[in-house]
Amino acid sequence: MSTPGAANAPGNPAPPSGQIELRIVVTSTRPLRLGPVVADWVRNHAPTDRFAVEVVDLAELNLPLLDEPEMASTGIYHHAHTRRWRELVTSADAIVWVMPEYNNGYPASIKNAIDYLYAEWEGKPMAIAGYGYRGAASATEQLTTVLRRVKATVVDGVGLRYRDHLDGPPGPDATVREDAELLGAVRRMYAALAAAWPPEAVRPA
Ligand SMILES: Cc1cc2nc3c(=O)[nH]c(=O)nc-3n(C[C@H](O)[C@H](O)[C@H](O)COP(=O)(O)O)c2cc1C
Repeated sequence: MSTPGAANAPGNPAPPSGQIELRIVVTSTRPLRLGPVVADWVRNHAPTDRFAVEVVDLAELNLPLLDEPEMASTGIYHHAHTRRWRELVTSADAIVWVMPEYNNGYPASIKNAIDYLYAEWEGKPMAIAGYGYRGAASATEQLTTVLRRVKATVVDGVGLRYRDHLDGPPGPDATVREDAELLGAVRRMYAALAAAWPPEAVRPA
C-alpha cells in the first residue's frame, strides 16, 4: 500500500512511491465467465508509470453472503474473510469494478462485497468497467448510486457493448474489439483515477 505524503507535486498527484496501487476487481463468479477477459483488457491499458495493478477475483475471494454479526460501520470484523477483503481494499489507492449486467442490474456479488465494509470506501477513487448488450448502462447507474452512498469517489468508467466491442459470444473465449470510443473512454478513466488521487482525506494541506 502506498502511504500519503507531501511529496506530490501540485496538479500531478501521485503516491510518494510514484505509483497508484490499483485493484481491478472481477465481480462475476460464474464458471465460463467473460469477466477475466474484460479485466485483462482493462489491465492492459493501465499506464504503468502511474499504476501498479493487481487483479482481484471475487470468485476466488469467495465471500459468503454477509455473515458479520456487527454493522460494518462499527469497523469490528470477526471473520478472517472480512479482514482479508478489508486488507485488499484499504491497500488500494483506487479500484476498478469489472461488472457484467445481470437482469438490468449489477451482480449480487458486488453488493455483498460492498456491504461487508463501510468506512473503507469513503473517498476511495473508483470506476466501473461495465459490459453487456447495452454496455451495462443500467447496472452502472445503479452501482454508482450505491458507491456514492458509501461516499466513494466515482469517476467515469467504460461500457463495453457486445455488438461493438466483442468478438465471439460473451465468455472466456471472447476478445475485446477496441474502437476509438472505447480507447478514449479507458484513457479518460485512468486519467480521472490518477487525478482523483490522493483523495481529500489524505491530501496534504
Ligand atoms: C443471470 C444473467 C442475467 C443477464 N442479464 C443481462 C442483462 O440484463 N443485460 C445484458 O446486457 N446481459 C445480460 N446477461 C448476459 C451477460 O452479459 C453475459 O452472460 C456475460 O457473459 C455475463 O458476464 P460474466 O460471463 O462475466 O458472468 C445476463 C447473464 C446472466 C447470467
